[in-house]
Amino acid sequence: MDIREHNRIAWDKQVADDNEWTRPVSSEQIAAARRGEWSVVLTGYQPVPHNWFPASLVGVNVLCLAGAGGQQGPIFAAAGANVTVFDNSPAQLEQDQRVAARDGLTIRTVEGDMRDLSAFADASFDLIFHPVSNVFVPEVRPVWRECQRVLRAGGTLLAGFMNPVEFVFDFDLKEDMGVLKVTYGLPYSDVESITADERERLFGAESPVEFSHTFDDLIAGQLEAGFVLTGFYSTPHHASITAKYGIPGYFATRAVKVGDKAFVHFENHR
Ligand SMILES: C[S@@+](CC[C@H](N)C(=O)[O-])C[C@H]1O[C@@H](n2cnc3c(N)ncnc32)[C@H](O)[C@@H]1O
Repeated sequence: MDIREHNRIAWDKQVADDNEWTRPVSSEQIAAARRGEWSVVLTGYQPVPHNWFPASLVGVNVLCLAGAGGQQGPIFAAAGANVTVFDNSPAQLEQDQRVAARDGLTIRTVEGDMRDLSAFADASFDLIFHPVSNVFVPEVRPVWRECQRVLRAGGTLLAGFMNPVEFVFDFDLKEDMGVLKVTYGLPYSDVESITADERERLFGAESPVEFSHTFDDLIAGQLEAGFVLTGFYSTPHHASITAKYGIPGYFATRAVKVGDKAFVHFENHR
């Protein structure tokens, strides 16, 4: 399976099907953001703390990474940022352009794969906003490395991602009965952990394919790419029974690029 191609078509279809993560913000939200009143989510429905952002977004170069849908990008643009939205789905990117045209904003949209940001020069951005989307690629470390390259030194990466534990439970029971039964091992992959027939039965053949990631890839991957972590929170899954059991569905990290080699080991260790 060509995962990127499959997920491009699948996310275009999510737009047609009105998935909630494809629904643009309203003109009222844009007007409020222009007055400095705004809030965005990285994970589920939990607003990102404002102190994760600069005091003012005016003139800040922001990359919304795999974050189209007319949601966060237009809010940042209305708050004064220079916004680039990068995404694999043309229909998702169209949502951002639709809001921009409707509300008189300027937003640059670029189609591509989050693992390859070669469309951007080194040190092009001050802030990367990367909501829960790395579940749609099989490997996440290339994403962190590319984020490190395109951020300026001192730039900030705000990332949301799924708790891998969300993938271990029997999907039927989880949806239907409120019962959790451990069924799958980690790392989980929609392509390798279940058959195509099973995937079609559970989620539909045209749904995006997802992949869990290890904490090593999610956390150590950021450190090894050249970031230091400066913030963290967890959020219940907005639509999973795991929330009932106090299991966080998502995590969010705030990371700062400290240089080209932030993962500093003591030089005198062998
Ligand atoms: C859940 S949506 C995230 C956007 C949304 N605004 C939010 O707040 O969560 C996931 C996004 O990841 C994008 N995506 C999936 N695979 C991608 C890839 N390989 N490269 C870039 N974007 C990708 C999808 O097209 C979709 O817009």
